[in-house]
Amino acid sequence: MEKILITGSSGMLGSYIARSIDRTKYEVFCPSSAELNLKDPEAISKAIKEIAPNVILHLAAETNVDLCEVDVRHAAKINCKATEVLSKAASEVGAWVVYISTSNVFGARKKLTYNELDLPDPENYYGRSKLAGEKAIEKYCSQNCLIIRASWMIGGGFAKDQKFVGKIVGQIKAGASVLRAVDDKYGTVTLASSLAAFIIRSIPERKVGTYHFASQGLVTRFDIAKAVVKYLNFEGEVLAVKSSQFPLSAPRPDSEGIVSVYLDKEDGIGLFEDDIKKYISEEFV
Ligand SMILES: NC(=O)c1ccc[n+]([C@@H]2O[C@H](COP(=O)([O-])OP(=O)(O)OC[C@H]3O[C@@H](n4cnc5c(N)ncnc54)[C@H](OP(=O)(O)O)[C@@H]3O)[C@@H](O)[C@H]2O)c1
Repeated sequence: MEKILITGSSGMLGSYIARSIDRTKYEVFCPSSAELNLKDPEAISKAIKEIAPNVILHLAAETNVDLCEVDVRHAAKINCKATEVLSKAASEVGAWVVYISTSNVFGARKKLTYNELDLPDPENYYGRSKLAGEKAIEKYCSQNCLIIRASWMIGGGFAKDQKFVGKIVGQIKAGASVLRAVDDKYGTVTLASSLAAFIIRSIPERKVGTYHFASQGLVTRFDIAKAVVKYLNFEGEVLAVKSSQFPLSAPRPDSEGIVSVYLDKEDGIGLFEDDIKKYISEEFV
């Protein structure tokens, strides 16, 4: 039976994978961050050598964009160094590695959308640290790795979603009559459950290369909020506000929309509206 090691299995994306991966087909190892901490390079090498997995799904990361900006050493340790150590050890045991990167590797070039042929140009340290992670994986596992860049990820439902959609739903459930959302920063949305299914389907085929995985449609948080309220019978108002009203430590690009020149509907790339509808109807209603 093939062995699969998953880092970050308690996270938004990891939870979908850990829940739906076929454990009759694979022996699955899901260490918690306490059991396998990315701050400890020796522990990473040791775990990989001991388990000798055939597949590593490396999802764990420091995903707090503003924390990465104010603590660059921390971002470098978790998102770059740990990924470098993991990929070296993976190449030694011959594991195929899946690394989840981000649309934040783009932005400085001021385009509206970026595809797989565009050169990365991050605007913040989160993006830089994740790009360094991509480079480490490519250096040590170039013929044996799948890099997937995700965008604004939505998932987790009632239990886990503390991101934008979860907050909007929370405000509605708390009786808010006015919602505010930024309308001057653009991006695309990645439905975590669809990405999890794509990753699981990629395992037997050992897909290799770099791919962008996001719904079709360049949107703002205001667009997302409007789409969310449509499926929740919200009768209040959604107001558009400017990002300057919410100062953040890390700069955000005006647009970090990603599109794929390789993947399409068959791979799980949906329309923005359909993905939001699916998420709200399956996990919040
Ligand atoms: N969320 C997004 O919008 C988004 C967008 C694009 C790409 N991505 C990428 O997609 C991947 C998954 O993101 P996500 O949103 O599912 O992440 P998440 O919900 O923030 O969860 C992060 C995961 O990483 C683990 N982790 C954090 N620090 C760790 C450490 N020092 N040692 C070991 N494990 C540690 C966490 O464990 P604990 O729960 O124990 O802390 C958790 O399982 C990440 O690589 C991220 O960069 C995310």
